[in-house]
Amino acid sequence: MSPLMPAAAANVFVVDHPVIQTKLTELRDHATEPRKFRALLNEIGSLMVYEVTRDWPTMARKVDTPIETMEGRVLARKVTLVPILRAGLGMSDGVLRMLPEARLGHLGVYRDEKTLEPVSYYQKLPPDIAQTEVLLIDPMLATGGSGSAAISFLKKAGVTNMRFVCLVAAPEGIAALHAQHPEVPIYCAAIDRQLNELGYILPGLGDAGDRIFGT
Ligand code: PRP
Ligand code: URA
Repeated sequence: MSPLMPAAAANVFVVDHPVIQTKLTELRDHATEPRKFRALLNEIGSLMVYEVTRDWPTMARKVDTPIETMEGRVLARKVTLVPILRAGLGMSDGVLRMLPEARLGHLGVYRDEKTLEPVSYYQKLPPDIAQTEVLLIDPMLATGGSGSAAISFLKKAGVTNMRFVCLVAAPEGIAALHAQHPEVPIYCAAIDRQLNELGYILPGLGDAGDRIFGT
């Protein structure tokens, strides 16, 4: 992971492995079709898991190998993945591939096209989510409104261990998310330059949901 400038760095981690950067460049290409776009997004999601979960607590578990007994280590807490609908769905399968025991919650949030304010329209979470490690997943962090609303909802549900996993983050979105929720770490594959007047990330990759679902 790349070290960031201290001012921008608080609780932001850029997972800029060369393999991830190569896939991200392909993904950004306007000519990349939904089928390839979905595949790349999930592959990046899988690869990011290693860094996102690197310091999760583990506990001892006895295991009988074919030769002898030893004390292995396993994740200490259950895991819940929470994709923000729609675009989060395009990344969550890749994360789930690495964490197949995880449960899934879903939060439906879209940005109003004119005001760019988040509109929440669906929530379904596992009942014991507060006791789990939560990865909140959305490829795009633009103004930060959707992510912030989703984190507020998870906090109301009692979640304390959560990380926000995205693909591309705008500096404005990082600042907004941290203004509201400074303790929630943000993991991304790239921090782009800025937002345009319509709230799109520059250079970005366009509308993630539309590119995933072909809408
Ligand atoms: C996109 C993206 C984020 C949001 C980011 O969703 O998936 O959820 O925009 O923007 P923000 O940081 O300014 O809130 P969108 O609203 O397009 O909904 P969709 O995934 O259903 O297409
Ligand atoms: N949502 C997207 O899908 N893309 C952007 O650039 C900004 C918000």
